[in-house]
Amino acid sequence: MCGIIGYTGTKNNAKEVLLSGLKKLEYRGYDSAGIAVYENEKINLYKSTGKIKNLEESLSKNTSTLNLGIGHTRWATHGVPNETNAHPHKCGNVTLVHNGIIENYLELKQDLILKGTEFKTQTDTEVACAYINEIYKTEKNKIKCIAQSCKNFRGSYAFAIIFDDEPDTIYAVRKDSPLVIGVGASDENFISSDISAILNYTNRYILLEHEEFAKISKDSIEIFNSNLEKIEKEILTATWSSSEYQKSGFDHFMLKEINEQPKVLKQVFERYFSNNTYDQNIDISNYDNIHIVACGSAMHAGLVGKFLFEKYALIPVTVEVASEYRYKNQLITNNTLVIIISQSGETADTLAALRIAKQKGAHTLGIVNAVGSTISRESDITIYTHAGPEIAVATTKGYASQVAVLSTLALNTAIKKGLIDKTFEEHIYNDFKNIQNTISDVIKNYEEEYKKVSEYIYKHDHLFYIGRGIDNAVCLEGSLKLKEISYMHSEAYAAGELKHGTISLIEQGTPLIAVATDEILFEKTVSNVKETKARGSFVVFITTRDLEDKYIKSVEDTSGFFDIKLVLPSATDFTQALVTMVALQLIAYKTAILRDCDIDQPRNLAKSVTVE
Ligand code: G6P
Repeated sequence: MCGIIGYTGTKNNAKEVLLSGLKKLEYRGYDSAGIAVYENEKINLYKSTGKIKNLEESLSKNTSTLNLGIGHTRWATHGVPNETNAHPHKCGNVTLVHNGIIENYLELKQDLILKGTEFKTQTDTEVACAYINEIYKTEKNKIKCIAQSCKNFRGSYAFAIIFDDEPDTIYAVRKDSPLVIGVGASDENFISSDISAILNYTNRYILLEHEEFAKISKDSIEIFNSNLEKIEKEILTATWSSSEYQKSGFDHFMLKEINEQPKVLKQVFERYFSNNTYDQNIDISNYDNIHIVACGSAMHAGLVGKFLFEKYALIPVTVEVASEYRYKNQLITNNTLVIIISQSGETADTLAALRIAKQKGAHTLGIVNAVGSTISRESDITIYTHAGPEIAVATTKGYASQVAVLSTLALNTAIKKGLIDKTFEEHIYNDFKNIQNTISDVIKNYEEEYKKVSEYIYKHDHLFYIGRGIDNAVCLEGSLKLKEISYMHSEAYAAGELKHGTISLIEQGTPLIAVATDEILFEKTVSNVKETKARGSFVVFITTRDLEDKYIKSVEDTSGFFDIKLVLPSATDFTQALVTMVALQLIAYKTAILRDCDIDQPRNLAKSVTVE
């Protein structure tokens, strides 16, 4: 969690570079922000609580031209989000920003207190800063001083560090948390948690690896490995451009990203099904079992994948959240494939699960959006989702592209195993070919229905989503979307399971969103809907055109089991989750607007969670 940035150079004003970079890194947390700059021959700290715009306002009268600085946007872990606990932290000669957690900070703090250090904050980071400062008293080689300190830190970190006596140089090191070094054309260099934050200035970067150290000044970048030997590193070029980080006329990034889905999905299906061009040669048809491991929405995408793999490719699949998987007995055999799904490619628990799976001998396949991220580099094979940068904290196109990749993977595997006949393959192929139009239809042509649904549900305290099979997986994600951005309590339930307890929460008027898009399960779900209707629920019933023709239009007595109906385009199992999900995303978005919520940066959340 947390985003860090640094600038050293004479081409730009450090203040501007840091503020513009921090705004791009806000997705990593926005509880407080701060910068440390070299100004009037000393290091000055400026901090504010809340979003970067507060820090920007407090700095608006500062007209100095600054040549060096480091900055931080915080997602609080140790210590409340106030100005004191905001980074940067300064102890004696050392000023630093930190992304990660120093797990043994209390132990280190005790030792430092005995040596006379006084602490001002509740953070683990101040302890790291004081520790480096303490070592620096006797070890004047700065790289050696940082390395010696890090040996005593347990946990994860990316640090950008400046020393009072060398105010034109930034030192950096990382373990588990990401860090890139931006290579300027001349007279400037950068450091950042993520290349997106510095794309306005450069698209050339060096990836700092686990336990590597960097010394960065305006005209040189030196990298050292864990043995402190100087090494040469490749300079990479980012392909995402800074224009992809604009709202392009949309009110929110989330809405922009919802609207990008038709194009993103078309590309995924063309790339991975029509042309079957995974970035590497991939054949997973011989695995005995698959473990899908991920967090949040990525885990929900995995649930759709499980359904498709089991139904069509006949491979047993388990899906688990990474924070549980990493600490259990994983029961990996030498014929287990572990699929790791992550938009950012940096989620701490997901990364740890990947490393454990590798250690235990599993073959690992990463499904990742962020090119060059740690998970993409460490997985045995990586399939990129190519969704482009996703800025809104609540994922939409990121999730959709993960589902699409899993669909192609399940289908390609089923075809390879001879389990799909030609006619059905042709039918699915047409489904993929039409995806751009189908998803555009769901975005554009249901305004009235989304309005009606959101205007009903936004006034309620809680609601339920129910569905069976793939619809159940989609409901889990739809419910999460609503919770994340509208702050309403909602729960998603397997439709048949609701009666085992949760139905006691249904009262007169309680909103229930029921999804029934699978013909085999349609009547079962309708029965479950009726059970809630009999107890007073207000039902939003989501189904498909084919099912409405067959089961609703033809039946006379359908009155009374729903209050609002959404009849979506019919699709195959391989794309239906995407069709339904887009409708649920728009319901969540419109509800959050009515509740006047912060759509792109919901409270307490962060897009990339790099702490466990
Ligand atoms: C955070 C985000 C979620 C996301 C999850 C996993 O909690 O807020 O939207 O699904 O992390 O992120 P990843 O980058 O690994 O897909």
